[in-house]
Amino acid sequence: MLVVSSLSKEYSSGAGSVRVLDGVSFELHRGDSAAIMGPSGCGKSTLLHILGALDVPTSGTVTLDGQNPFALGEAAQALYRNDRIGFVFQDHCLLPQCSVLENILAPTLIAKSDSGVKDRAKFLIDRVGLASRANHKPGELSGGEKQRVAIARALIRNPILLLADEPTGNLDEATASSIANLLFELHNENRTILLTVTHSADLGARFPIGFRMHNGILARS
Ligand SMILES: Nc1ncnc2c1ncn2[C@@H]1O[C@H](COP(=O)(O)OP(=O)(O)OP(=O)(O)O)[C@@H](O)[C@H]1O
Ligand SMILES: [Mg+2]
Repeated sequence: MLVVSSLSKEYSSGAGSVRVLDGVSFELHRGDSAAIMGPSGCGKSTLLHILGALDVPTSGTVTLDGQNPFALGEAAQALYRNDRIGFVFQDHCLLPQCSVLENILAPTLIAKSDSGVKDRAKFLIDRVGLASRANHKPGELSGGEKQRVAIARALIRNPILLLADEPTGNLDEATASSIANLLFELHNENRTILLTVTHSADLGARFPIGFRMHNGILARS
């Protein structure tokens, strides 16, 4: 279970401080799939990065199955991220010099992985429809294909929380819809999915749980 309580984030600079998250609280259970919709700049990426322990909150708490990632030391926090969180970045962040297969396997190089990991990579490549592209480099793929690789990479360690930051943001509507279908197909009861959407209300509405974000405040829609 993901429990987010009174989360705030402020950035300070010479020009003053900016409050980007303003007391965000919500809970998601295992198996939930939810979308956060909101205009550009409202704080969606900031929230997702904190939930993925890629950034720290100014105040408030996050616990995932009772564990608070911000109470962990650096090494334990890196393991927490690698073990429990799958993160799909808006711009996919694939390693350009590595093949599709190597990109998908990259998270398994950090922690000790079981011997079944290659089979799982093959299974995921197949599921995202890129079996014939396993040895291609990201530069040889379309935007939608790259995003499919990013999804497979996020799922390789079978995380309990999948965070997808506008995985369809740069894609046309048909491709965006097929990426959403893929997320639903790869969904299982053990995993919680939280995705952000800026432009496509239709896409957001397909998720059983919807949140609206505005100026750093989150509400159920
Ligand atoms: N390092 C930073 N320092 C100061 N302000 C920042 C920093 N990072 C983000 N912000 C501000 O925080 C606000 C929220 O940014 P964020 O990236 O979370 O928005 P978003 O909802 O994801 O937007 P988009 O839909 O365009 O991706 C913006 O006003 C942004 O300028
Ligand atoms: Mg963003």
